[in-house]
Amino acid sequence: MLNNILRFQQSLDKRKAEGTLRRLRLQSEGVDFHSNDYLGFAQNKELQNILLQKVIENPQMLSGSTGSRLISGNSDVANSVEHFIAQQHHFESALLFPSGYNANLALFSTLPSRHDTVIVDEQIHRSVHDACQLSNAKKLKFKHNDLEDLENVLKRQEGHCYIAIESLYSMEGDFAPLQEIAAIAERYKASLIVDEAHAFGVFGYGLIEKYELQKQVSAAVVTYGKALGAHGAAILCSETVKSYLVNFASPFIYTTSAQDFQWISIKSGYEFLDQNIELSKKLQDNIRIFRSQNLDSPSAETSPVQAILIPDNQKLKTVQDTLSEEGFLTYAIYSPTVKEGSERLRICLHSFNTEQEIMKLTEIIKEFM
Ligand SMILES: Cc1ncc(COP(=O)(O)O)c(C=O)c1O
Repeated sequence: MLNNILRFQQSLDKRKAEGTLRRLRLQSEGVDFHSNDYLGFAQNKELQNILLQKVIENPQMLSGSTGSRLISGNSDVANSVEHFIAQQHHFESALLFPSGYNANLALFSTLPSRHDTVIVDEQIHRSVHDACQLSNAKKLKFKHNDLEDLENVLKRQEGHCYIAIESLYSMEGDFAPLQEIAAIAERYKASLIVDEAHAFGVFGYGLIEKYELQKQVSAAVVTYGKALGAHGAAILCSETVKSYLVNFASPFIYTTSAQDFQWISIKSGYEFLDQNIELSKKLQDNIRIFRSQNLDSPSAETSPVQAILIPDNQKLKTVQDTLSEEGFLTYAIYSPTVKEGSERLRICLHSFNTEQEIMKLTEIIKEFM
């Protein structure tokens, strides 16, 4: 153990020396340009009061579920919220999870068998990589959003392939060419799985709904910890895939279900989203203001995640520190987390940011360009 502790300490010291040591900090005061609360739902008093009222009517929903959903932890609420979600997204069925990480872990550790290949976009979320480590399938990467490379990888495979993409990428803030990838998946008889974590809520119910691709994807993941200001996730899929996951997905089976309050807050989030579509319009107005400042960014015009390339760890740190001193909270991504030369400041825009805040933020950044 002593040797291990030494090794742990050496790794931590190395990170500290590189300036990449992670620490648990309390939420800092400042203008929020870093959270995923794109529509401000996590601080919306009206939504909080709706939830409070539901708790007062049924305080039992705050209590623990008492077990796995396969033993004592299932409830009418969980079943009916899943039914509601499936209907909203025009999928045959839905399966709830306590988080998006767990949903991806369940999907990719369970669906692909040892003879299959999972082909992931090189920018796919860490949860998919972790899930693949739990599976017996082979994992290959294709270049980010590169259709030709995806086809080249697909052509070389013999068994069944799964393609894993995000509809809106969380670090780059760009969209996947969803329709084109769906067509390729169809041509190669591959199963397409789409993570809608950052698109859901910002673009209605997500981009699969927008482009009506339900029949062309084997499963989609929507998460509720971002635009919905709640917590949890759902896998949208067919009845057969849901039943297969309920039977074989360890991350679903061997864990205590979340309490009903989590499922109720998700349903309330959907209803609140429908009643407040002006918030996503306000968010788009703010994104337009930000984009009008012409900073160097690989992100899409309408994305709430805007990455600003500052390709030098030291300079990036100075920009972020200066912004922080001026009261702006942003997130810097250093190499080696991203490739050297593509270090970036990740800016998240929200419906509640003001024009003045956005202009001041961009003004400071521009001073370093
Ligand atoms: C693309 C993507 N998928 C999945 C997740 C995980 O979702 P959750 O935070 O609900 O576990 C995240 C969150 O970081 C994400 O960005």
